[in-house]
Parts: sequence; structure tokens; C-alpha cells
Amino acid sequence: MAVSLHNSTGISRVGFDSQFLGSHSASKASVSVSFHSSLTNLSLKSVETSKQQSYRIAAMSKAESSSSDQVKLDISLSPRVNSVKPSKTVAITDHATALAQAGVPVIRLAAGEPDFDTPAIIAEAGINAIREGYTRYTPNAGTLELRTAICHKLKEENGISYSHDQIVVSNGAKQSILQAVLAVCSPGDEVIIPAPYWVSYPEMARLADATPIILPTLICDNFLLDPEVLESKISAKSRLLILCSPSNPTGSVYPKKLLEKIAEIVAKHPRLLVLSDEIYEHIIYAPATHTSFASLPGMWERTLTVNGFSKAFAMTGWRLGYIAGPKHFVAACNKIQSQSTSGASSIAQKAGVAALGLGCAGGEAISTMVEAFRERRDFLVKSFGELEGVKISEPQGAFYLFIDFSSYYGIEAEGFGKIENSESLCRYFLDKAQVALVPGDAFGDDSCIRISYAASLTTLQAAFERIKKALISLRPAVPV
Ligand SMILES: Cc1ncc(COP(=O)(O)O)c(C=O)c1O
Repeated sequence: MAVSLHNSTGISRVGFDSQFLGSHSASKASVSVSFHSSLTNLSLKSVETSKQQSYRIAAMSKAESSSSDQVKLDISLSPRVNSVKPSKTVAITDHATALAQAGVPVIRLAAGEPDFDTPAIIAEAGINAIREGYTRYTPNAGTLELRTAICHKLKEENGISYSHDQIVVSNGAKQSILQAVLAVCSPGDEVIIPAPYWVSYPEMARLADATPIILPTLICDNFLLDPEVLESKISAKSRLLILCSPSNPTGSVYPKKLLEKIAEIVAKHPRLLVLSDEIYEHIIYAPATHTSFASLPGMWERTLTVNGFSKAFAMTGWRLGYIAGPKHFVAACNKIQSQSTSGASSIAQKAGVAALGLGCAGGEAISTMVEAFRERRDFLVKSFGELEGVKISEPQGAFYLFIDFSSYYGIEAEGFGKIENSESLCRYFLDKAQVALVPGDAFGDDSCIRISYAASLTTLQAAFERIKKALISLRPAVPV
């Protein structure tokens, strides 16, 4: 029996046209595979679950077919998945990794993960968990031990009180955010997202059949949301405001006063919830300080606080994050998780307990990393600040620099073509300078490019020299 995987938009059909009643137009892909079977008189058709979705398999007996039987499989994808853009950061990181593996000396500054190892004491806790046979399913919402430690952390460090049934631990903060968006948004709801934003927020809104409403911010305002702009965009459909401080991709940190103004506006709207993504909380450069949105007057009831272990504790691969909020919402997240991944890794959860046991803001293990990030930030801000035609807002946290290179757009690069936008400038940097960066349009701001400084100072110095050279060849400096 031969099988042909296809959509209904007109791939060449082999075999049983009369049995294959394709009805889709969503997918453009087509694949053909063949296999042989002794099945006879088999004809299967699954029931269509919706107008947009079908999956059909048809087979005919050998008796009805002359030589090889054919089955055509519709590989159309759901409109939901077709509406979602793949993550550009992941795509660029993968591309740069492939180049590096092929021997091209690419400096990779695209990924959003610390270059440090997980502190030994945390790693040991994970190893001990395995040795001690702590390798079974945990409660869906996370172990009581870890949730109790999280409650303690949130109370002591953030001034917000939760009981353990108001916490759900997930396989990374990314899962926590997606579950929260799915839990509270109905089709047609609006999710308000200040730009530049973390790449996944708008796509998560789309996955929930909600509409992302993007509010641009300005580099001269340190990419912070203007409360008046927020107020003007809230409507009866507004369901969720997503705040991220310290921010990926800008490194901006919302001052408490500004958050208070935002809270005053939010308080006027009974439908509006806030998702506060605080995953970079500990990577912050004094005098900037972190404020948890839920700690502001009247905000606890409507705030979902997301945090995780990936960034501050250099635990990206352990996949551990959590959400804290009113029980009603958190229980809904827990329900979604119970039907998808179930609880996070038992081993990672033991490591998470050890991480929180390091003390306030992760103690010395974390402050050493933050010091290194700060030194790198200072180097990059100073170096890029001296370049012609470049605008910078000094990041106060996280490990990203979001630089405005738009004055270079429109320039014709020899042997490359025109630099049109952030995407082509990134390609130019990859081609000419062999430095991998992420175009700002992935974050909703095409004038900028994101540099991740989760790399050694020596690597950053080399990357800067390469970028500088590539920029100078675009627009030779005018002698003064
Ligand atoms: C702003 C922000 N939130 C959430 C996440 C998700 O982190 P994880 O799923 O690794 O905990 C990331 C990761 O890049 C991020 O940058």
C-alpha cells in the first residue's frame, strides 16, 4: 500500500482520487511516502472535528488495485498553529550553531541564556535527588517542599503572601506564561503588550485566540510604557496586560513610581488582569531595584506573578519556573498542566529548593554572576556609545543591549545589497562580521538589534571590534 501525505490544494495525486475528498487550504506542504501492507478491504476515515481540521486515511484492497495501493494523508495544520510565528531567537541561534559546527568562527550573541554553569550546590542537589531515587512523578503543581520555599521567597523578597495552593511549578516560566494566557483569555479578548516585548508574548496570545495589542515605547523613555498610552488603549475587550521587568530585550527596569501609575489605571478596569514576568528579577544593576507588581495596593487580586530559575540561577536546561496568583486563576493553570505535561521534573525541583536555599537574591553565587554581567554591560554601553549613528538606552537589568542602528538602514553594502531593516542588518553582521545577533523586529521594534551579553568580556570585545569594522565599511567615518 502506498501513502501520500498532502494537502488538498493540488499536489499530484497518486491513486484513489475518488476516495480522497480533501477540503483544506491551510497547508502548503506535501510529502509522499510508500509502504506495503497485506491489509485488505480497509477503508478508514476519521470524523472531522471542525471545519478547519480533518485527517483522513483511505486504503483499498489489493483486489481493487492493480499494482501498488495508495493512501493520501492530509497534512494540513490547524489555523491556530499557522497563525503563530516561529521564534526568531531560536531560529537564529540554531543557524549560528550550524555555522559554528561547520567551522565558521561565529561569535554567538543571540541566545538568551547565561554563559555560566549552574552553581555547584544546586547541581549537587539534582545529582543527590537521582542517587536517592527521587525520580518519580511529583504532585502536578510541584512538590510541597518547593512550593513552600517559593512562598517563603515571595514573602521575604517581594513582599507578597501566597499559600502553597496559590503556586504552580512548571517546566520553565515559558510554560507558566502560556498556561496563564490560555487560562484567562477567551477568543476575541485583547492582550496588551508593551513593545519591545519578549518574542513569545504575542504568539501566546494568538494561541489563546486572543488579539495582541502592541503598545510601542521609545528609546528616549528607556523603553518604558507611557501610562497615558496604556490608558488610551484599554477597552472592554482588554483582559491581560503583560509586563516584563527587568525586560528582555531592552534591560529596562520599571521604577516603582511608574508601576504605581500603571496600577492606578489598571485598578479602574474590573476585567483587566496583569501578568508580571519577573524572571530577570535578580539580574539587576544598583541603584535600580525590583518591584513586584502584585505588591502594589489593590494589585494582588488581579496579578499573576511569573518567575523561574533559568536566568538568575543559570538553570535554563533544568526547565523550572512557576506562577503565583489568586487560587481561582492558578487552579486553572494547574488544570491545563494536568492535561499536558503534568508536574515538572522531580530532580529539577530538588535543585530548585537548593537554589532558593542560597538566600536572598541567590546569595554570593548569583551576585558574582551579576557583577560579571554588569562589567560586560558597562563595556558594551561605553563602546557602542562611541560609535557614530548608534542610539542606546543603558540597560538596568537582564543581560541584553537593545541598540538602535536604524541610521544605517537604506545604505547599500558592497557585495551584500541594501540594508533594509533589522533583519538584513543582522544578516549583514553574520555575513561580514560573523557575529550572530537578533533583529529587533522579532521583538516588535525594527529600528533595533538585540545583543545578548551572556558571553565573556574577551568574546564581547572581539564581537564589538568586528561589528565596528562592519559598520565602518557601511559608512566610513568622516574625519574630524
Ligand atoms: C522574559 C522571559 N520570560 C520567560 C522566559 C522563559 O524562561 P524559561 O522557560 O526558561 O523559564 C524567558 C526566556 O528567555 C524570557 O526571556
